[in-house]
Amino acid sequence: MNLSVIHGPNLNLLGTRLPELYGTMTLSEINRRIREAAAGRRARVRILQLNGEGEIIEAIHRQMSWADWIILNPAAFTHYSYAIRDAIEACGVPAVEVHLTDIRKREPFRRRSVIAPACRRQFMGSGWRSYIRAVQFCLNQK
Ligand code: DQA
Repeated sequence: MNLSVIHGPNLNLLGTRLPELYGTMTLSEINRRIREAAAGRRARVRILQLNGEGEIIEAIHRQMSWADWIILNPAAFTHYSYAIRDAIEACGVPAVEVHLTDIRKREPFRRRSVIAPACRRQFMGSGWRSYIRAVQFCLNQK
């Protein structure tokens, strides 16, 4: 199984970005744990972090020829990017949405995900472990 993990904008700053909300783990530490979770399951993992909406859309398109699953934390784009939602729908690769925090319990503008209707599942509110739950979910499909 090929898993493509895409981290959206500002997630490169994890570790120092609002640690009281997002924790102190850096993105490279999270990525190491994602790879560990997939190790031994005959899965190949590719991980990208992209700050731009267009870059994310292009990365999603590229997954059509490689990924069995996309694991996406769209970050702030979650709340307004119909273009990313359409890209997921158009590429046909099943996707899972991930958030470190529970967006349903945050500011009103964060409570809605426009991406979720295009995704099979959402994992949120467990910090870096949200990614691990998403990886495990994907690995347990077929
Ligand atoms: C986030 C939640 C978003 O609202 C926010 O813009 C982020 C991170 C999360 O992982 O909790 O950048 O996606």
